Amino acid sequence: MNVLIVTESCFGNTSRVADAVAAGLRSTGAEVIVAEAASAPTLDGVDLLLVGAPTHNMGLPGPASRRQAATRGGNPAATGVAEWLDRLPTGFSGRAATFDTVTGTGFFAGSAAKGIQKRLRRHRVDVVARESFVVTATEGPLADGELDRAELWGAALA
Ligand SMILES: Cc1cc2nc3c(=O)[nH]c(=O)nc-3n(C[C@H](O)[C@H](O)[C@H](O)COP(=O)(O)O)c2cc1C
Repeated sequence: MNVLIVTESCFGNTSRVADAVAAGLRSTGAEVIVAEAASAPTLDGVDLLLVGAPTHNMGLPGPASRRQAATRGGNPAATGVAEWLDRLPTGFSGRAATFDTVTGTGFFAGSAAKGIQKRLRRHRVDVVARESFVVTATEGPLADGELDRAELWGAALA
């Protein structure tokens, strides 16, 4: 199975989750590419697409929230998952799953993964799973056990 994980990260936490999910998938024999949204390859030959981002202002990062992250010491790319989704061609026939990082859980924390799921479904992509991983503060680190949970989630997706 060929898996593409498209992600963005301002402080490195979502990237660490992406790498842990990739490790879980690889443990089942999957071929996995982890790519920054700004330089992600095409979806040719991809069976399972994973898209993950940090939650910003209850949804997906955009130019303004990335600037805010930069003022707090983050290192965002100029463009990310939202812009990648804008360019997504129609007709991807594989499965997909979405993930995010959040500082809190529940309605008022919001979820980038939920926003990604909505946008993928608008493209008629079959989204089979969605998961959030908790960071202890805006800059991180991830809460105890979250990287292990990400690896298990990846293995279960396969
Ligand atoms: C501008 C900004 C807005 C944020 N808004 C939210 C939010 O609405 N809900 C939440 O749970 N976390 C929020 N956070 C915290 C981020 O989720 C956290 O910084 C992120 O998960 C860290 O991941 P990263 O290291 O990959 O950037 C926000 C962070 C920034 C910088």
